[in-house]
Amino acid sequence: MSIATKSDGETVGNLSLIAAHSHITGLGLDDHLQPRENSQGMVGQLKARKAAGVILKMIQQGKIAGRAILIAGPPSTGKTAIAMGISQSLGSDVPFTAIAGSEVFSKELSKTEALNQAFRKSIGIQIKEETEVIEGEVVEIQIDRSLTGGHKQGKLTIRTTDMETIYELGNKMIDELTKEKVIAGDVISIDKANGKIAKLGRSYTRARDYDAMGPDTKFVACPEGELQTRKEVVHTVSLHEIDVINSRQQGFLALFSGDTGEIRSEVRDQINMKVAEWKEEGKADIIPGVLFIDEVHMLDIECFSYINRALEDDFSPIVIMATNRGISKTRGTNYKSPHGLPLDLLDRSIIIRTEGYKEDEIKSILSIRAQEEEVELNADALSLLTKIGMETSLRYAANLIAVSHQIAKKRRTDTVALDDVKRSYTLFIDSARSVQFVEENSSQYIDDEGRVQLSKNEDAMDVGA
Ligand SMILES: Nc1ncnc2c1ncn2[C@@H]1O[C@H](COP(=O)(O)OP(=O)(O)O)[C@@H](O)[C@H]1O
Ligand SMILES: [Mg+2]
Repeated sequence: MSIATKSDGETVGNLSLIAAHSHITGLGLDDHLQPRENSQGMVGQLKARKAAGVILKMIQQGKIAGRAILIAGPPSTGKTAIAMGISQSLGSDVPFTAIAGSEVFSKELSKTEALNQAFRKSIGIQIKEETEVIEGEVVEIQIDRSLTGGHKQGKLTIRTTDMETIYELGNKMIDELTKEKVIAGDVISIDKANGKIAKLGRSYTRARDYDAMGPDTKFVACPEGELQTRKEVVHTVSLHEIDVINSRQQGFLALFSGDTGEIRSEVRDQINMKVAEWKEEGKADIIPGVLFIDEVHMLDIECFSYINRALEDDFSPIVIMATNRGISKTRGTNYKSPHGLPLDLLDRSIIIRTEGYKEDEIKSILSIRAQEEEVELNADALSLLTKIGMETSLRYAANLIAVSHQIAKKRRTDTVALDDVKRSYTLFIDSARSVQFVEENSSQYIDDEGRVQLSKNEDAMDVGA
């Protein structure tokens, strides 16, 4: 059976942009893995960041597959932020997948299938292939559009220093050329297998065409020799992408919609065998990536057993988990254990602990967030937000930045002042005040059994099913 590793679709980039952490560009460590006090958007939490740096090194050296890392600490202490910092430092060649524990419970997929897909998204396969390409400098592109629109025809003249050829163009090639904005003087490479065009740069011979130059124009030499050459190309796909491409006719479409359904285990078995074979033959390398499971205490015992098993697999990513639970029950059991994790999994885990922040650290983080959101805070506003951050949570205080900004704008000013923060603090309550409010007014809410009390002196009445 032949296994496809390429679709004609676009390659799917990592779109998971987590806005609350957009200020984080790395772990903020120096060359000796020592944490800087304030660097790459990261502030404080030095021990945990240093530990994360050691893990990062081990991941990069491929020394740690099959292990799990648990980041444990109170809410809002930067657990997710540290995982994002690791992800940013890994670079684009190492797959990084982030899911929240609760995401595995959906009605489309069983929870183990959802986990299986997340695991396979986190394993990269680097495939080396020889492909035939046409590489040269574009001399001329001629496109005739028929009057009715639909059909397009054209000619592409392309040369090397030694030869020049004219190719007839069909609809698809014309679209590719238009999409890549190819013009005369560009040096391009056309993959003969799938018709994909890559712009390699502008030819030096056109260095004086100022019109066609942007500030970051890259100049390259016009290729020599034959137009058609064989080239070794390397592309990286995840195991999951290979699964999807091969499990349906329209596989790559499913990659876009994210609606992949359950993948049959025979398909995966065949793919695993093929990948192992490619590895033997030196055609492919396996790159264990990172699977980050946030709020891991949301998983139940079956999920944990699955993870335990999956970590022993030949293809296993590094699993990083985060939790804010102390001693608590593992879902689906009656057992209590540290962080709500079953002991066998805990036993395999390296634990990184995060701690609460000091006042000046909260202040720095909030001012970084304000900068990131392009909000100007005056000194009093920042001090009050910091106080709120200390007394409630960092996340709540950070959320008030945008709200206060809206309130300031109503006063037709762009700088957030003390009163704007005060008003947003009274408009939106934090969780502690919310809990207090609910407790004081519990009779007005619907309880778990569907009962609600409509007026103070009435008995509870049943509203629910
Ligand atoms: N050490 C830090 N440096 C910079 N920003 C941080 C740091 N710790 C937390 N943050 C930011 O504070 C907010 C809350 O942190 P988060 O990582 O979500 O906490 P947790 O996952 O522990 O509940 C996020 O916006 C996060 O990016
Ligand atoms: Mg978190």
